[in-house]
Amino acid sequence: MDNNKLKIRLDKLRKEFGDVVAVNDINLDIYEGDFLTLLGPSGCGKTTTLRAISGLEEASGGKIFIDNHLVFSKKDEVFVAPSKRNLGLIFQSYALWPHMTVYENIAFGLKVKKLPSGEVAKKVKAILEDVQLDEYGERYPSELSGGQQQRVAIARMLVNQPQIFLMDEPLSNLDAQLRMEMRSELKQLHTRTKATTIYVTHDQEEAMTLSTRICVMNEGIIRQVGTPEEIYSRPADIFVASFISNPKMNFFIGKVENIKDKTFIEAGGFSIEIPSGIVGARKELRLAVRPEDFYVSDKGVPYTVQTRLPTGRSQIVMVGNQSGASITLLFNTEVNIQADDIIHLSIKQEKYHLFDNDSGKRLN
Ligand SMILES: Nc1ncnc2c1ncn2[C@@H]1O[C@H](COP(=O)(O)OP(=O)(O)OP(=O)(O)O)[C@@H](O)[C@H]1O
Ligand SMILES: [Mg+2]
Repeated sequence: MDNNKLKIRLDKLRKEFGDVVAVNDINLDIYEGDFLTLLGPSGCGKTTTLRAISGLEEASGGKIFIDNHLVFSKKDEVFVAPSKRNLGLIFQSYALWPHMTVYENIAFGLKVKKLPSGEVAKKVKAILEDVQLDEYGERYPSELSGGQQQRVAIARMLVNQPQIFLMDEPLSNLDAQLRMEMRSELKQLHTRTKATTIYVTHDQEEAMTLSTRICVMNEGIIRQVGTPEEIYSRPADIFVASFISNPKMNFFIGKVENIKDKTFIEAGGFSIEIPSGIVGARKELRLAVRPEDFYVSDKGVPYTVQTRLPTGRSQIVMVGNQSGASITLLFNTEVNIQADDIIHLSIKQEKYHLFDNDSGKRLN
């Protein structure tokens, strides 16, 4: 994204509510065409960050730039009103006006801007076709399904041609199947419009499928910013590693063994040779391996199958050994396993993550 134009910059953005630091001096650059997702557990500060960018919430400190314009600075007493920031907003509750038809809901913003009515009609019609609701202009929101209402909300945002889209968990009220459909519509929308988007979710799968970049937050702090691939294959710390994993990440205390000029990590019966130099003087560190990164092999470490949870497409298998280690595995259904079986496990080549015990930061 480095060649791209900087669209939004958060510079030490901070928001406090009394004693609670909701957003703790975060720095973040968002580029033109980015679909950047703020991802993190409940209460980590995602909505507050988005609302500060929109201007619906006034931050307590730091600066916000949109298109190189300073729109907020506590120190310089700058605060540009939300309506002047050229942003389109969608929140979890679509907040369509119930007493207005679909057409009127979408046309409202254009009428406020005093566009001639012929022009308004033309624009609304085009947008309704875009979101495949051309037949529904005369209906009221209560006469639409959740997914259709959400599409009206998107149409209402699009028709004003904002420079930037801000969306806060827009799909969380929909059932699983609709959510999937709307995901793919949002993805197509972004591919088509290339509109810079900031998207909030606590659903890692949604973040992985939609984003060009993901910003993982926890307790008001940014833990990692990267492409979905980077976040998945090289989590920056223990928090990100455990948050972005489904089923849950396996963690082990790893003992460092130096044998001649080679370095090994011993954990859970496994012995992994690692590049020497990354462990420094450490005697112990944290090893993490994803459930999908183990395989069954004759030379592997024996574990006993405790439970097997078939999902139809795959199976989650919990195993344990006599030393009390337990591991969660994800296999395809072709791997034939029953409870009480003894299986021999190995870790796929290079598919391990090493973290410092104290700081939790990535080492490899
Ligand atoms: N108006 C408010 N007054 C006081 N505290 C608030 C207010 N809004 C948010 N907070 C607190 O700020 C922190 C961050 O809240 P925020 O809504 O940004 O979290 P979130 O990441 O969006 O969570 P969720 O996934 O549950 O929506 C929380 O501790 C929350 O309780
Ligand atoms: Mg929220």
